[in-house]
Parts: sequence; structure tokens; C-alpha cells
Amino acid sequence: MGLRIVILGAPGAGKGTQARKLAEKRGIPHISTGDIFRAHLSEGTEFARQIDPYMKSGALVPDELTIAIVEERLGRPDCRDGYVLDGFPRSLEQTQALERMTASQGPGIDAAIDLRVPDDELVARMGARRTCAECGTIYNLKFNPPKGGGMRCDRNGCGGQLVQRPDDNEDTIRQRLFIYHKTAGPIYEYYEERGILHIVRGDVSPEVVFATVEDIVCGVEVA
Ligand code: AP5
Repeated sequence: MGLRIVILGAPGAGKGTQARKLAEKRGIPHISTGDIFRAHLSEGTEFARQIDPYMKSGALVPDELTIAIVEERLGRPDCRDGYVLDGFPRSLEQTQALERMTASQGPGIDAAIDLRVPDDELVARMGARRTCAECGTIYNLKFNPPKGGGMRCDRNGCGGQLVQRPDDNEDTIRQRLFIYHKTAGPIYEYYEERGILHIVRGDVSPEVVFATVEDIVCGVEVA
């Protein structure tokens, strides 16, 4: 049974940045509920109509819809050898649902890694975030701009246009942070009780954060 890692943290903490890197290095899927929802929105699916108001306002998509999406995704064959979850779980109900989903495959999630970053830095990061419309690589105009200084993705010659997420405006950012602080506590308590919560300083360079994440994952593998 492969590694099953959950990356936790406030909006803008670097979950996507770290989860992508970790999944790529381990050759396992990176599953981001935010990315799945954004794909529905850009394809204009039936499901998109249900989630659009929540995403636009920075509210959480209802548990029932989110859990169904994740359950379907984790049931696909590429998840048999493990996965890195990013942005899920976001409530106690989602946490318990994830535990139920994984119960049939062994002891459940191996590690929950929480990236901690002060709110002021989160606001600054999200305001300057840009994402490649083609490959999804995450940039930051202040902290991690594309090489050459333009608005095109420099990863492996991709060249895709860098775009700003619609929910990265000041009001929605504040709302997302408010909701995070209101709802995240029970998730941490749950994983702490299970003895698998790892708190990581997220306000250092992405490389330093990744080295710590790697150490934790290596520790889980040898345990
Ligand atoms: P989602 O897409 O999950 O957004 P989020 O949780 O708000 O997190 P972000 O994607 O904003 O940030 P991140 O932590 O991934 O940071 P990133 O690596 O990009 O969710 C969006 C919406 O979908 C929600 O509001 C909700 O409506 C809905 N949703 C999603 N999942 C849900 C669920 N489970 N239940 C219900 N609703 C759900 O980094 C941010 C920026 O910082 C980037 O520019 C990056 O380059 C930069 N950066 C990263 N690391 C560093 C570093 N170490 N130093 C300096 N800059 C850094």
C-alpha cells in the first residue's frame, strides 16, 4: 500500500506548491479539490452550477458534494499506490469521511502535514499568485516570478499564459481566511489524536519547506 499524505494549511499556505512537488517526486497523484472544482467551472459542467456561488464568495462547498467528488477520485486505479491530498479535508465531517474511505485499504492516512504561515503573509501571497493556464504551475509575482519576468510559464518550455484566480481578490481572500480559522480546529485535533499531525513552518522558502516535508514523508515510509 502506497503513501497517503494530507497537506493542510490556510489558504495561500503553500499546499498546492508542496503537494505538487511531493506527488511528482513520488510518482503518485496530486489531488486538489480546489483544482477539481476549478476544472468543472472552466468546463461549465452541471456540477459547476452547484459549486460556483460557494467558490465565488470564498465559502466552503457543502460537505456532501465535496465528499462525493473525492470518493470518486480516490476510487480510481491510479490511487492504489497512494496520493497526496491538497485542500481536503476541510471539516470534521470530511475528515471522518476520508477515514472511512481509506479504512478498507489499511490503517488510513499516513501523515497530515500542516503548513503554518502568518495571516499577513498569506494575504500578500494570494494577491500576487499567478497560475499557468496550461499546466497549473503556481507562481508568485513577488516571491517566485517566472524566469524572464514575463507572464508566461517557464516550466519545461510550457509557455502558457499566467492568470489570476478569481477568488484571489482582497474581499474573498479575507473571507477564505475567516472561514479557515473558524473551521480548521477540529481537523487538527483529529489528526493530533491519531498521532500523525506534523506542523511545519511555511513562512520560509519553498525549498526549505519541501526539505522538511520530505523528511516527514521519509520518516513515515521507514516506520
Ligand atoms: P483551494 O484551491 O483549495 O484554495 P485554498 O485552500 O484557499 O488554498 P490556495 O490554493 O489558495 O493556497 P495553497 O495553500 O494551495 O497555496 P499555493 O501553493 O497556491 O480552494 C478554493 C475554493 O474551493 C475554496 O475557497 C472552496 O470554495 C472550495 N474548496 C476547495 N476544497 C474544498 C473542500 N475540501 N471543501 C469545501 N470547499 C472546498 O501558494 C500560494 C502563493 O504563495 C503562490 O503564489 C505561491 O507561489 C506562493 N508560495 C508558496 N509557498 C511559498 C513560500 N514558501 N514562500 C513564499 N511564497 C510561497
